[in-house]
Amino acid sequence: MPLMRLDKFISGQMPEVSRNDAKELLKKGLVTVDGVTEKHYDYKLDTEKAVVAISGERIVYREHLYIMLNKPSGVVCAVRDKITPTVMELLPPQLRRPGLFPAGRLDKDSVGFVLLTDDGELAHRMLSPSSHVPKKYFVRLENDVESGVTELFKSGMTIDNDEKCLPAELEILSPKECFVTLHEGKFHQIKRMFAATENTVVYLKRIAIGGVILDDKLDEGKARLLEDNEIKGLICYD
Ligand code: URA
Repeated sequence: MPLMRLDKFISGQMPEVSRNDAKELLKKGLVTVDGVTEKHYDYKLDTEKAVVAISGERIVYREHLYIMLNKPSGVVCAVRDKITPTVMELLPPQLRRPGLFPAGRLDKDSVGFVLLTDDGELAHRMLSPSSHVPKKYFVRLENDVESGVTELFKSGMTIDNDEKCLPAELEILSPKECFVTLHEGKFHQIKRMFAATENTVVYLKRIAIGGVILDDKLDEGKARLLEDNEIKGLICYD
């Protein structure tokens, strides 16, 4: 039975509420546990069963957060950076929590789906080289895609002389636009794959991770929690 102190539970689930704020709310009699007012900050509750509410509004317990962010250009996928704004700075207060990090990276000038989580185990499963979670990108190019590139990508090409890539799927949408699906995440991979075909990526947007598609209602710079079925879709997909 996972027991937790009530003030810790409240501040842990509501990042904008400090431990002291939580104690104040408790003192004021605004907190109920299973429908009964509880004023003791050191009350121990079962995080899996107890129904905690503040002013009648239930706090849904989440052990981990899984956040879909639509990354704009010009921010880096890092927890902190001395010079450049990071993806973490885009999160609204209610989605901030210690321990969050971007699970996988997009280049500073790339846009689209970045997963932020504090679940190290899931991130490890997704990011380990053997997991091969597909990531789908929309790509716009400077020049027309040459014939033979689909087969080249499919064959598992070599870039920069000796780096062997896993087979990747290319779906041509128009002469200069395509989808690319990778099953790994090498540094600047798509840019380097196209560079090897004498082409240049001018726009790159990640549109899916595993079975989860970037929400088209999520504007650039905005974030939302993943639904339960989406969390499963990160590692279970066809
Ligand atoms: N490939 C790249 O070249 N850049 C990205 O940001 C992602 C994939």
